[in-house]
Amino acid sequence: TDASARIDPRNEIADIDRRVFGGFVEHLGRHIYDGIHEPAHETADADGFRTDVIELVKELGVSTIRYPGGNFVSGYRWEDGIGPADRRPRRLDLAWHSTETNEVGLHEFQNWLDKVGSDLMLAVNLGTRGTQEALDLLEYANTTADTDWTRQRAVNGRDEPFGVKMWCLGNEMDGWWQLGHRNAGDYGALASRTAKAMRMLDPGVELVVCGSSGSGMPTFGAWERTVLEHTFDDVEFISCHSYYQEQGSDAQEFLASGVDMARFIESVVAIADAVAATKKSDKRIMISFDEWNVWYLHNEDGTQSGEELKDKGWPVAPRLLEDQYHALDAVVFGDLLITLLQHADRVRSASLAQLVNVIAPIMTEPGGPAWKQTTFFPFSLTSRLAGERAVRVPVDCGTFTSSRFGEVAAVNAVATLDDDGLSLFVVNRSTVDAADLRLDLSQVAGAFGRDLTVVESHLLHDDDLYAANTLEDPERVGVRPAGATAVDGTLTLTLPAVSWAAVRLA
Ligand code: AHR
Repeated sequence: TDASARIDPRNEIADIDRRVFGGFVEHLGRHIYDGIHEPAHETADADGFRTDVIELVKELGVSTIRYPGGNFVSGYRWEDGIGPADRRPRRLDLAWHSTETNEVGLHEFQNWLDKVGSDLMLAVNLGTRGTQEALDLLEYANTTADTDWTRQRAVNGRDEPFGVKMWCLGNEMDGWWQLGHRNAGDYGALASRTAKAMRMLDPGVELVVCGSSGSGMPTFGAWERTVLEHTFDDVEFISCHSYYQEQGSDAQEFLASGVDMARFIESVVAIADAVAATKKSDKRIMISFDEWNVWYLHNEDGTQSGEELKDKGWPVAPRLLEDQYHALDAVVFGDLLITLLQHADRVRSASLAQLVNVIAPIMTEPGGPAWKQTTFFPFSLTSRLAGERAVRVPVDCGTFTSSRFGEVAAVNAVATLDDDGLSLFVVNRSTVDAADLRLDLSQVAGAFGRDLTVVESHLLHDDDLYAANTLEDPERVGVRPAGATAVDGTLTLTLPAVSWAAVRLA
């Protein structure tokens, strides 16, 4: 079918905050131990970090990394992870029914971040702990004053502060599974008290209050409103979390996931702005979409992924949440990234959950190789090619019918502009029809004073929607040239059914 659009640079959404290309590392399963940290691995550096993984994380292009959880943080004592490694306590991690050895803590993780070139975003424990422990961590991490905490920091190898800018006030406190789960009023009051105290210590921090764990939560909406009524003056961000999976072998419905994400974002923006109105405030609360991905969370038998561990004792670094992503997942994933960029005015931070082994774009085998999952490609290409400003691309195209959302556009796109050119990110969500896309670039040529030409184009598509990269066949799915051309001010590109593409013009 035909699809057409005109790119008009005046349709700018907003400048893009690079923190939208963030990631998330939790102490969970084989993420840290036997993932990023495997001292016995042949590629390990002097600090025990796998250099093959470091290279892949660099290639992925992750800006800020949220740490150390996740559900894990709601039972975590951050002090367990500082000081001489051989004296650190082994603890039970109730969230994932595992044993935490604490071999990796704040210093080691910052050291790893320095190697991969990403910034730290820290979460504090508001599950089993409270304001004082959050203040202790903030003082340890960010102050220059001569105190007991900063002396300890120096003894532990770091004179200079970590200088952590973004802080999450707990994790998923609306979730019944969360240690210290509470109602919106109680959480909102605690988050407000903690935020005020943290700001007294360091006025430069940017704070993220917990929104809902998903838009399907029974308290969704009311939770955001109550929590923001308490914390509106105290925070810069509210979080959104969302995971998607194909259900009931309905690939077409799964391909509408971006619509769900867009509605989620727009609902939270509406609630935040309604609270602003009641407070007669011009302040705009931004969204930190700090957990998003495809995750086969609900097993066919109705149990939740990870539940199986509960009968297996308290293992160290068990195989948990090791989802294998296929081509269809990667197309949906690419569309989720398009959706985040389409909301660049309010989504100013986002974290792909997660990075290595645990619902991750990068997989490793202990003592063996590291490889890219299918979702690696849309993330790395979008992160690398996205320019400074997001621009709307209203596509005239066919539709399909979603049982949840009614008529859904088959083709969804966003563009970005910078001084050197334009990048286009586009998805064909139809499971049946290829789309012949024609993009009128005349307004873009006007803005640049010349025609732009295609410098690179990439297509992610596989005739087998369920093809995946595995230990045995790590390069089964990848990207290939998309065959886009720009002639006489028109970009043409054929998108097979269920495909994602990125095009760079300069
Ligand atoms: O990312 C996996 C888990 O999903 C996180 O620990 C939690 O915050 C969410 O429920």
